[in-house]
Amino acid sequence: MEGFAGKVAVVTGAGSGIGQALAMELGRSGASLAISDVDLEGLATTEERLKAIGAPVRSDRLDVTEREAFQIYADTINGHYGKVNQIYNNAGIAYTGDVDITAFKDIERVMDVDFWGVVNGTKAFLPHLIASGDGHVVNVSSLFGLLSVPGQAAYNSAKFAVRGFTEALRQEMMHNREPVEVTTVHPGGIKTAIARNGLTAEGVSAEAQSKVFDKRLASTTPERAAEIILDAVRKKKARVLVGQDAVVIDLLVRITGSHYQRLFAPVIGRIKPPSR
Ligand SMILES: NC(=O)c1ccc[n+]([C@@H]2O[C@H](COP(=O)([O-])OP(=O)(O)OC[C@H]3O[C@@H](n4cnc5c(N)ncnc54)[C@H](O)[C@@H]3O)[C@@H](O)[C@H]2O)c1
Repeated sequence: MEGFAGKVAVVTGAGSGIGQALAMELGRSGASLAISDVDLEGLATTEERLKAIGAPVRSDRLDVTEREAFQIYADTINGHYGKVNQIYNNAGIAYTGDVDITAFKDIERVMDVDFWGVVNGTKAFLPHLIASGDGHVVNVSSLFGLLSVPGQAAYNSAKFAVRGFTEALRQEMMHNREPVEVTTVHPGGIKTAIARNGLTAEGVSAEAQSKVFDKRLASTTPERAAEIILDAVRKKKARVLVGQDAVVIDLLVRITGSHYQRLFAPVIGRIKPPSR
């Protein structure tokens, strides 16, 4: 894959899954990388792999919920490489639990990582992306940023919010004639550790959730997901659906409108273990 030679790309949550695969594919395509995660072991693996293919890489511990640290990090990366072209706001967590049994603090935690983490990264890097003259913001939402399902209200909220934020940002950049492209990413089920690392409401079996996800819902490899995402970035697309499941379900939701809720609730109920 070509098209990223000379570009400086920042990837959050790069120690696992989609973030790791994105970093590797960007490295193979000629980009210089700034990778970060809270999982230092996973991050070290990504760093080693990037070095093994000769990609320039800088690796830092960064918690995307820490706004001030993110700001300092953005300035540091810009100073380190002299510019920043792309940020992939990818870090995220999963959560399962019906609204009535979910604690406020759990919803806040999901919003902190999955929504505010994206906002923090976008705002910290935006001035540098504009200054580069050739910037790109890539924000990872989800198929669950296009439709809601039972047990996912917290995650749905964060991912719908990422979509709203990112779609508005894209129009602002166009309207203000800023040299920054903006892409929203909606992955379907990707074979990563997301469900295994996921949080659940009290009494909801995390193991049962992740088993079903790994066996029945995750269909696309993270490597293929990275290829699809980077292809969309090269084509400057507004949004990218990752995986056949995402393509088909998005279409169904658009055809059925709000009726999808009546159609999906019983189906989801049969596929997924209880979320309460
Ligand atoms: N796997 C899927 O099926 C799927 C589907 C739709 C959307 N997504 C989204 O894709 C993104 C990547 O997920 P993945 O599937 O690769 O999962 P993953 O669990 O394999 O990787 C997520 C990474 O984010 C890191 N992370 C978590 N909290 C963090 C924080 N506060 N600060 C910094 N890093 C943090 C984790 O340590 C991990 O390395 C997430 O935003 C997720 O919501 C995944």
